[in-house]
Amino acid sequence: MKNLLIVHGPNLNLLGEREPEIYGTQTMNEINDIIKEHAEKHNIVCRFFQSNHEGALIDIIHENHKWMDGLIINPGAYAHTSIALRDALSVLSCPIIELHLSNIYNREKFRQRSFISPVATGVICGLGAAGYTLAIDAIISLDSNK
Ligand code: DQA
Repeated sequence: MKNLLIVHGPNLNLLGEREPEIYGTQTMNEINDIIKEHAEKHNIVCRFFQSNHEGALIDIIHENHKWMDGLIINPGAYAHTSIALRDALSVLSCPIIELHLSNIYNREKFRQRSFISPVATGVICGLGAAGYTLAIDAIISLDSNK
């Protein structure tokens, strides 16, 4: 794997100040630094993107469609609502990791269904920011098992 796209969905720009008891105290930029550092050890080039807009998330996936060899996406609340985002992911042939910082299965009922999970290669949730380095390792090992 050479090129990795990291997508953060709505409200994740507020990490650090947003419900820290659920999402932790690290900011999105701090998490991106951890991702970058881990990726660089494996000679992986990262592109980072955050948006609060459904269409913008879809556009960035289309734009990087040919570039990326792997995608890690925290769709935020769009996981629970967006068929359009799911359809955009269905087009991809590279590994997709859906990531949630919190464990969506021990929270409200409406969070326990994700439209994204059926089209993701794998799902990581409930492990906070540590999930990102695990997601990178998972994509690397999927790649080397090909
Ligand atoms: C989240 C979980 C979602 O239910 C929520 O809407 C978010 C964050 C998580 O990372 O745990 O915005 O995706």
